[in-house]
Amino acid sequence: AKPITKFDKELQTLIDNMIETMREAPGVGLAAPQINISQQLAVIEYAEGEDEEEENENTPPKPKKLYVIINPEITKVSEEKVMGIEGCLSIPGLQGEVERYEAIQVKALNRHGSPVKLKVDGWMARIFQHEIDHLNGVLFIDHLSKLKRDRVIKKYTKLAKQTAG
Ligand code: NI
Repeated sequence: AKPITKFDKELQTLIDNMIETMREAPGVGLAAPQINISQQLAVIEYAEGEDEEEENENTPPKPKKLYVIINPEITKVSEEKVMGIEGCLSIPGLQGEVERYEAIQVKALNRHGSPVKLKVDGWMARIFQHEIDHLNGVLFIDHLSKLKRDRVIKKYTKLAKQTAG
């Protein structure tokens, strides 16, 4: 995907539409290439720590954090890597276990073109890595071993045929 240089009204509309699409899906992230726009833009919305604590009816829902990242660059990664199950709106119905850095630092521009430095960890760091991958033409299945990837693709092809039929 190409870097964004114009922060005009059109871009703001695109960003708002992407946020809406992500929420409607529902998903925790959406990258512009997923809607056939080859630009370095992704939106992410997730409640940090959502994965860490068990929910019960007395726990109030954690506030969600919304990020709009433009021309992002991972500048630092943790030594620690963690495995986690991922899915993707671009390949519905499929999931796979992917190794990601536990924490990362990201340099990006916000929706108004101002530089931001972000530090994220845990599941949020995973979402960031997944979405930044999209901007580089990488899907989560590209991180799987060949054996697992073949299995997943086979399953997907089968699912797609069923849907078509
Ligand atoms: Ni995805």
